[in-house]
Amino acid sequence: MASVTLEGISKIYPGDVYAVRDLDLEIHNGEFLVLVGPSGCGKSTTLRMIAGLEAISEGTLKIGDRVVNDVHPRDRDIAMVFQNYALYPHMTVEQNMSFALRMRKSPKSEIKERVAWAADLLGLQDLLKRKPKALSGGQRQRVALGRAIVRKPAVFLFDEPLSNLDAKLRVETRAEIKRLHRQLNTTTIYVTHDQEEAMTLGDRVVVMCDGLKRQSDSPLETYQRPADSFVASFLGMPPMNFFEGTLEQADGHLWFANEDARLRLDDAPVEWLNGESRRPIVAGIRPESFEITNADGETASAVAATVLVTEPLGSTMDVYLETKSGRRIVCRVAAAHLEEGQSVAAHVAPQAIHLFEPNQSGAAGSPTRYGRSLRAQGELV
Ligand SMILES: Nc1ncnc2c1ncn2[C@@H]1O[C@H](COP(=O)(O)OP(=O)(O)O)[C@@H](O)[C@H]1O
Ligand SMILES: [Mg+2]
Repeated sequence: MASVTLEGISKIYPGDVYAVRDLDLEIHNGEFLVLVGPSGCGKSTTLRMIAGLEAISEGTLKIGDRVVNDVHPRDRDIAMVFQNYALYPHMTVEQNMSFALRMRKSPKSEIKERVAWAADLLGLQDLLKRKPKALSGGQRQRVALGRAIVRKPAVFLFDEPLSNLDAKLRVETRAEIKRLHRQLNTTTIYVTHDQEEAMTLGDRVVVMCDGLKRQSDSPLETYQRPADSFVASFLGMPPMNFFEGTLEQADGHLWFANEDARLRLDDAPVEWLNGESRRPIVAGIRPESFEITNADGETASAVAATVLVTEPLGSTMDVYLETKSGRRIVCRVAAAHLEEGQSVAAHVAPQAIHLFEPNQSGAAGSPTRYGRSLRAQGELV
């Protein structure tokens, strides 16, 4: 086992294309780290540089204490699992799994023992004599996992390994990967664009966008205290609602206000006002932070709206609302009866309101336009 350290790592493709920018990251010995972000943000490039499949343009990469920038992939003591399995079609499961050990001229008895151990761990005993074409997608991916673990490498690298599986199998294989990690405790770097996979698998989640690291925290911390509005909008489904408005001080409290609502804020530091009585701000509220009641109830700290559409999900439902000014809100609430067109009040607790700095220069419609979280900035002050 080993730690993996990236110091100022960049990947610059011809034409000055920065796929990864100045990435600092330390993956601890035995940690399960997930790199998550939208397509094209530089996840695979990062993983391929760690694997040695892509040259590093700038920075230093260490596995353990050893600088491996110029070390051949074969000599990095890592194993990588890809989305498309990459099994050898003409070899049996057993031959696929033993391939790397045979190449290394490991003793026959050891190869046999390792393959049996991995097959046992992954429930592949009955499939050892089959060729990949006689396997289902889920079985092929288990063989790919088996091929990686027989080598007992210091580090596992996964690049979207579940993307080709159907929904049910994806959840099952995800649990399998988590169980394997608990059992083997091997340092793991796992790449996905799927926020649910990231949240369920990672000891730590690194959110990337445009080749940059945006946040590196535990899944829960990332969800509860997103560093910026990009992270806030990327994690969570349905995504967080954003509202442009003003931050103001009155009656000994700070308030968020716009044409639709006046919401009391909980622990927003008064310094954010910079001595002004009000300033522009963006409020972020997660769909599950709302509670919906009849419009004739208590409406302080609530948004008045009408029901556009309801989407029943079983025990919960998603409710799409429209405010007086025409803003759309999505709320996830306990299943209940609501009529389309009905007037309601959407309530939110002060501590469930996230605040973000508006980004003056950003393009409207882009989730990155709001910039850094004031909550996160407050911690730095
Ligand atoms: N071989 C390449 N040549 C030029 N640009 C590339 C190459 N590979 C990837 N890129 C670019 O680098 C960026 C990051 O790609 P990638 O790491 O594959 O993203 P992800 O895995 O997060 O979807 C993208 O903009 C992509 O177009
Ligand atoms: Mg990729």
